[in-house]
Amino acid sequence: MTESMQGLKRTCRCAEVSTAAIGNQVTVMGWVQKNRNMGSMVFLDLRDRSGILQVIFEEGKVEKEVFEKAGKLRSEYVIAVVGTVAMRSGAVNKNLITGEIELLAEKLRILSEAETPPFPIEENSKTKEDLRLTYRYLDLRRPDIQKNLIMRSKVAMEVRKFLAQEGFLEIETPMLTKSTPEGARDYLVPSRVHPGNFYALPQSPQIFKQLLMCSGYDRYFQIAKCFRDEDLRADRQPEFTQIDMELSFVDEKEVMEINERLLYQLFKEVLGIEIPIKRMTWQEAMDRFGSDKPDMRFGMELVDVSEIVKDCEFTVFHNALEQGGSVRGINAKGQGSMARKKIDALIDFAKGYGAKGLAYIAIQKDGSIKSSFAKFMKEEEMIALISAMDGEKGDLLFFAADKKKLVYDILGALRVKMAEMMGLLDKEQFEFVWITEFPLLEWSEEENRFVAMHHPFTMPMEEDLQYIDSDPGRVRAKAYDIVLNGTELGGGSVRIFQNDIQEKMFEALGFTKEKAYEQFGFLLNAFKYGVPPHAGLAYGLDRLVMLMAKTDSIRDVIAFPKIKDASCLMSEAPNIVEKKQLTELGITLIEQEKQIDFLSEKG
Ligand code: AMO
Ligand code: AMP
Repeated sequence: MTESMQGLKRTCRCAEVSTAAIGNQVTVMGWVQKNRNMGSMVFLDLRDRSGILQVIFEEGKVEKEVFEKAGKLRSEYVIAVVGTVAMRSGAVNKNLITGEIELLAEKLRILSEAETPPFPIEENSKTKEDLRLTYRYLDLRRPDIQKNLIMRSKVAMEVRKFLAQEGFLEIETPMLTKSTPEGARDYLVPSRVHPGNFYALPQSPQIFKQLLMCSGYDRYFQIAKCFRDEDLRADRQPEFTQIDMELSFVDEKEVMEINERLLYQLFKEVLGIEIPIKRMTWQEAMDRFGSDKPDMRFGMELVDVSEIVKDCEFTVFHNALEQGGSVRGINAKGQGSMARKKIDALIDFAKGYGAKGLAYIAIQKDGSIKSSFAKFMKEEEMIALISAMDGEKGDLLFFAADKKKLVYDILGALRVKMAEMMGLLDKEQFEFVWITEFPLLEWSEEENRFVAMHHPFTMPMEEDLQYIDSDPGRVRAKAYDIVLNGTELGGGSVRIFQNDIQEKMFEALGFTKEKAYEQFGFLLNAFKYGVPPHAGLAYGLDRLVMLMAKTDSIRDVIAFPKIKDASCLMSEAPNIVEKKQLTELGITLIEQEKQIDFLSEKG
């Protein structure tokens, strides 16, 4: 019994109807949220992406056939209603934008019937995420997800507006390309025309944007899809979106300044708030927060107590210092009465970050202490230690002793964990910080060589270049990350544009010239024909919108996200393909034969 629109034209969205339209006739179209049949009246909540409008069909006031039809409407039917806007006869609903008004229906068309959805379409759904993602097209009808995607669209528009004003050109770069230098595992696409050859999906447009600089497009940007085959987390997807940019004839200061203005405008336009942005060197961030993406919404900073405990008898502290490590602590204010069980759980948490243990002092309200290592310490040593930590009655002090990097990792993570337990992570607060002067290289235990902390085209700081052969780990880079509330929102750098420095960099990374050319030859060749100094940055758009929308997962701001195992529950991608397709590509599967065996065994 569905009908077509039969010439009806939507005049506005549901929640665009306001008191200003009282007495006017409007035509709205949308989904039935709720239908209450009260005998002589049918009350309907009609929903579209703008919100909900109450519609009333009154017996005797509408044609009999329309009234009967209205009584049979069920949730998620798609309908068109023509009616007159009126003040609400019943109580005002403060929860609705349209809470003061209602629509007195005259005409009704059923445009589409609907089966009962597998879960209710409502805000703050308690439905499990797996089910919601399986029926993502229904989940996307829910107002909270719609709000997020509407915000995402607004963010993208504002970014485009701002960058266009600043003279940036929007230029697309290829998806079917060669391996890029971001260092994650590539997604590969087999070539039919060149059997045995593969494209790599870009991990970022990095090389292409640098080529665009060589070609004279001195300010480029793109809202670009990127692909990385890595372990997924709440803020990581296998395909995600970057706001990517590159600029010629600039240094890091200009890149940061433009981006501060961009972020400022974005938060002003989208959230109506003014944001300050701090700056901090990488070393300071590690020393104070144990992390290169510090959450600055709260204190609980790390304190280096190595000097204070260097002569104590506690072997854990002693050994760590002897081996060139350090002892540092954090003070969880007011947590001194934490139960032993909880403290043990936190020690286990720290072990997840490589801690061998975690030493603590719980200062009780009466001033007495409970501690895992007091017995190894002299009283005056304890007093000095507590005083260095600014320990007061009721405080809980944690200490990690190990190699510096481990101590940073352990206490950096513990600090955020404690803040979470103490309710210090306020989503309404936005604390931005630039982290600068990153190390150029970091030692990879796995590969037994230095790897680029950012990527191999990152410019070293001039004053540190002298150490690149003798002490590569000491060289700092002209690289910067923008961090918001403990999340790395974006990162970038000034690029190397001089051949000799680039060669030194490849050398430090253990790349031969041949290998470098094999991988990035087209960029290195382009540099031979006149290359401007250039620098750039890329934001994770998904992460940015996640924080602006105050949600905990980037899945909430991506229309069709993937789950932890990189599959899509709705489309069931990835999936097996026809044998014929594989043959065309010259691919035979080893695993598939095993799978078939397995299936036939199962009968
Ligand atoms: P980088 O690798 O730091 O830099 O990436 C930039 C930003 O992209 C986001 N991001 C992700 N978001 C969701 N899921 C992922 N798997 C994921 N991986 C990264 C982060 C990150 O800060 N070409 C350089 C930029 C440059 O130097 O200009 C680059 O890609 O928010
Ligand atoms: P142990 O002497 O090994 O029993 O350790 C005594 C205390 O030191 C325990 O509370 C351990 O959790 C703690 N501890 C052990 N290793 C470390 C470490 N590397 N850093 C901080 N505390 C540690």
